[in-house]
Amino acid sequence: MTAQDQKRAAGRAAAEMVETGMTVGLGSGSTAALFVEALAARRLAIRSVATSEATAALAVSLGMTLVGLDDAGRIDLTIDGADEIGPGLALIKGGGAALLREKLVWEASARRVVIADAAKTPGRFGRFPLPIEVVAFGHKTTAARIDGVLSDLDIAVRGVLRQSGAGPVRTDGGNLIYDAACGAIDDPASLAKALKGLTGVVEHGLFLGLAERALIGTPNGLLTLYP
Ligand code: A5P
Repeated sequence: MTAQDQKRAAGRAAAEMVETGMTVGLGSGSTAALFVEALAARRLAIRSVATSEATAALAVSLGMTLVGLDDAGRIDLTIDGADEIGPGLALIKGGGAALLREKLVWEASARRVVIADAAKTPGRFGRFPLPIEVVAFGHKTTAARIDGVLSDLDIAVRGVLRQSGAGPVRTDGGNLIYDAACGAIDDPASLAKALKGLTGVVEHGLFLGLAERALIGTPNGLLTLYP
């Protein structure tokens, strides 16, 4: 199976978890898009909450009913991709710059399931550069403080401002992203807490203790992981 086939298998399996009447959180990224397509094809009477403008546009184009997070009430189930899946289903997310809305929707959900291809489960947690969303005002000052936090935790890297062809990447909320290529994160909880404590940091891409299971497409079929 190609990576695309693996993502599609995970997305289809996740779509089968959705039941009529649910309010469903729709993740962002290429794997989540395959889930959204598979879910839309089932034509269930559900409401959905999107985690990015891109996912909202896709869902609307497929005829799905969207509600905003504040109007959703309880979200029954959120399905989303990840950039890396580590021990205990610790996740790194935000490769597509949607981490803030993703985390808001995840935390408002009763159940959260991550879907991915096999490449997202490397041996050591921290291979994927950790996205850190910061406000634009004084962002270089905030970045220096992020570097200090990393240094305090013996992570000898600096955050790098994410760029696109047109300049710095802006999130759906108008913020900037610094990526920290940690290589290995031995104590994700301490790093998460320290980053959240910095004024100017809006959110980081560590999703800890949130996913109830992972559906992983592999060359040998679907694998289900639990924390
Ligand atoms: C979006 O910001 C991310 O958190 C995505 O969920 C993550 O990057 C996974 O994307 P892919 O499914 O495209 O790898």
